[in-house]
Amino acid sequence: MQKQVEYPEAIRTKYPEQVVIAIAKDKDGKANPITLGWTMIVSGSPPMMAIAVAKKHYSVEAITHSKCFTIAFPSSDMADAALFFGSRSGRKVDKFAEFDCATEPAKAIDSVLLADAVANFECELESQAPAGDHIIFTGRIVASHTSAEPKKRLYTIGPGHKLGPAS
Ligand SMILES: Cc1cc2nc3c(=O)[nH]c(=O)nc-3n(C[C@H](O)[C@H](O)[C@H](O)COP(=O)(O)O)c2cc1C
Repeated sequence: MQKQVEYPEAIRTKYPEQVVIAIAKDKDGKANPITLGWTMIVSGSPPMMAIAVAKKHYSVEAITHSKCFTIAFPSSDMADAALFFGSRSGRKVDKFAEFDCATEPAKAIDSVLLADAVANFECELESQAPAGDHIIFTGRIVASHTSAEPKKRLYTIGPGHKLGPAS
C-alpha cells in the first residue's frame, strides 16, 4: 500500500545513488571535471550514456565546446576528489591544478581519464536535450577502460553528499 507524499520526501528514498565524474576540455584546453549523480546507460548498441548537467554549470560550456567528454566511475577511496570537483566551478578555478588527482590522456577523444577510477568511458557528444533546469548530454562511447586492480565504486549513500561504497 502506498501513501501519497510530497516529492522531496519520496525522492529521499533514492540512496545509494551512483557517482560519476565527467570531464570535458574548455575553449582554453583546460580539462574540467564535474561530479554527477544524475546519469544512466541509455543504449547498448551502440553503447551510450547520458548525464544531466545543470544549465548554470561551467561544464555545459566545456561539453558544448569540445563535443566530447569522459565519464569516469570514481572508486570508493576517491570521495575527497568527488566532493572537490562537485563543489568548485571551473569558471573560477582549475580543478585539476588545485586538487591532486592522477589523470591519463584519453585515447580516442580530446579529454583525460582518471587514472585511479574503477572505469573510464570516452564519449563523443551524440545529442543534448533540455530537461527543466538541466541539460541531458548523451554520449556515444568510443573507448572504454577499467582499472588493472579490483576497486569498489563510489556512491552517495545519504543526504548531504554523504559518499562511500554501496555496501
Ligand atoms: C555527489 C554529487 C553529485 C552531484 N550531482 C550533480 C548532477 O547530477 N548534476 C549537476 O548538474 N550537478 C551535480 N552536482 C554538483 C556539481 O558537481 C557542482 O555544482 C560543480 O561544482 C559544477 O562544476 P562546474 O561549474 O565546473 O561545471 C553534484 C555534486 C556532488 C558532490
